[in-house]
Amino acid sequence: MNTWNIIIEGFNKADITKHESIFSLGNGAMGMRANFEEDYTGDTLQGSYIGGVYYPDKTRVGWWKNGYPEYFAKVLNAPSWIGLHIKINGELLDLNTCLEVKNFRRQLNMKEGWYERSFTAMLPNQQEIQVKVLRFLSLRYDELGALRYEITPLTTDATIEIESYLDSGIKNSDANWDERFWNTLEISSEDNFATILAETKKTGFKVHTFMQNQLFIDNKTLNISPKENKKENYIGLQYELTAKKNQTFRIEKYGGYSRSNDYSTLTKSKTLSKSIALFDSLLENQREDWAHIWKTSDIVIEGDEKAQQGIRFNIFQLNQTYSGKYAHLNIGPKGFTGEKYGGSTYWDTEAYCLPFYMATKGAEVARNLLMYRYNQLDKAIENAEKLGFTGGAALYPMVTMNGEECHNEWEITFEEIHRNGAIAFAIYNYTRYTGDESYLKDYGIEVLIAIARFWAQRVSFSEEKQKYVILGVTGPNEYENNINNNFYTNYLASWCLRYAAEQVITLQKEGITKEETQQWLHIAQNIYFPYSEKYGVYLQQDGFLDKDLKPVSAIPAGERPLNQHWSWDRILRSPYIKQADTLQGFYFFEDHFTKEELQRHYEFYEPFTVHESSLSPCVHSVLASALGKTDEAYTLYLRTARLDLDDYNKEVHEGLHITSMAGTWLSIVEGFAGMRVKNGKLHFTPRLPKHWKSLSFKVIFQGEIKEIKL
Ligand code: BGC
Repeated sequence: MNTWNIIIEGFNKADITKHESIFSLGNGAMGMRANFEEDYTGDTLQGSYIGGVYYPDKTRVGWWKNGYPEYFAKVLNAPSWIGLHIKINGELLDLNTCLEVKNFRRQLNMKEGWYERSFTAMLPNQQEIQVKVLRFLSLRYDELGALRYEITPLTTDATIEIESYLDSGIKNSDANWDERFWNTLEISSEDNFATILAETKKTGFKVHTFMQNQLFIDNKTLNISPKENKKENYIGLQYELTAKKNQTFRIEKYGGYSRSNDYSTLTKSKTLSKSIALFDSLLENQREDWAHIWKTSDIVIEGDEKAQQGIRFNIFQLNQTYSGKYAHLNIGPKGFTGEKYGGSTYWDTEAYCLPFYMATKGAEVARNLLMYRYNQLDKAIENAEKLGFTGGAALYPMVTMNGEECHNEWEITFEEIHRNGAIAFAIYNYTRYTGDESYLKDYGIEVLIAIARFWAQRVSFSEEKQKYVILGVTGPNEYENNINNNFYTNYLASWCLRYAAEQVITLQKEGITKEETQQWLHIAQNIYFPYSEKYGVYLQQDGFLDKDLKPVSAIPAGERPLNQHWSWDRILRSPYIKQADTLQGFYFFEDHFTKEELQRHYEFYEPFTVHESSLSPCVHSVLASALGKTDEAYTLYLRTARLDLDDYNKEVHEGLHITSMAGTWLSIVEGFAGMRVKNGKLHFTPRLPKHWKSLSFKVIFQGEIKEIKL
């Protein structure tokens, strides 16, 4: 346990893919899993990703339904630049076939932004070697990464053959039609530098993947001219040398990506990566740049190392994923750590991530996140048109790369419409926190109007109830579909309609008739919310009480997570809630309800919640804190903060849960510290877990850095 580092010792083949996720690196523009540089024939998920470079993989479904998007965007496994084929006295280094691997250790230094791996291996030819590798992706030059690979022969003097390569013949492990997504256009090399120009199919992103090698023995530069090994989709530069027993050979390799339309970046990277002693100076930059990030984003917990390490890991990963520098990029649920969720944008950004970036990076960065949706408004209107909505109604996509919907399960694409509400809520949240009304006035209002138009058409009037109802939806709880009157969706719709109408009136927005805003207000006031008199709670949906209401504690331990043990059919009929749903509404609109109401709802829903979405425990933790249930809040906090480190949901091998990491931050700042913004001022209601000696953090609030110590 180390509060600034993640350290894992011991070589266990079954853990390789998990640890590839945990030790992932990123710099906001690109990222990679912690794959080995040398060959590895064991189980691995190879992954290097470039922000915004994706492929529209043609939808594959059993039965096509009108309205389905043509494609599911996939973040692309990008050409790899880290690879080294290494032979020691003619024997290939592959940890899967070594006779023994000792002292295997991985370390992620979160304070300085680098990753190190070391081991001693006995090769099948009885040669023992010691290896140490340091790798990082530069924050300062975000097209550039660097690695330093050291080999020391321990048995005898050794001939080392090393082929440093680029490979564009990579595939995605998740591809609907088992295709390759890249075409290689050009391969070239010059001395120790090589590059592959490759283009993505369909989307036409052209990317130069480059590498530059420098060799040393016992710290002295080795000038060996490489032999070129050029193949289709591949270029290797081969070197051969002898290292005496106990002498350390090292290769420093620089690599990365530059987009083809940006030759200056390639030239810059080429020049940069040729300069001698670059590694140490880049590493120094890296330390400085991470120190700068930590200055406003660190959270210090005294008296609890597990909790401390957890929150730092989360803050580190959030910063590896999104730097706020690029308006076209967003925060994929898995960041740059895996293929799942396609690297696309979900409601996670607005519902969970915005507050973190707003408070630790400032209003500009938060505004960029809002602008991302504003820039995609036309596409959201088109998306709604495809489903039959008219008159400028917008339905933002559940999953997107460029504004187009690219999720193709009907229950999510067509039904999980609550995402529209989170986008409106984020505008409100930003304005409330920053005090900056200009986004709302210049851009946000357009988004609010289009969203309100959607809700006004999506509701239907029930003669029976004499109320507006919303039929056939999926709420945040994806463990039930096609339900009617999901409380969360209905409440959000009602709030959106009212908020949009009020803003149109306040801003005296032209082009909207009074009748239209009156109708929005009328609907808002007359939306139906299912309620149980017996329990005194709003119901998650009309049929919730018909379920067999056994609490989660009644499920045998070996059957969780449910999604890995039960049939989908059984899950859908069960009362088990994947993630905060009604309580998500209580979280957003806390001040609309009394403490007693919150307590009743929390106590009603928590026993049915399995938290099988990473986005769940954080919300429950914030609410538990608000209710003074600090022990419970703490248990939920650990579950969110250490979800990946401790692999609660048994899926870390697929990648990290990046967006929920922002929720972890919320469970500390809004939970234990009880931070709220009321009338333009920060308020705190601290409720620290008993064993915490202190908690301190900073937030950027209305242009100033506020330092809080509890
Ligand atoms: C959750 C969604 C979320 C998505 C991406 C799903 O498991 O249910 O709410 O948007 O993951 O994080």
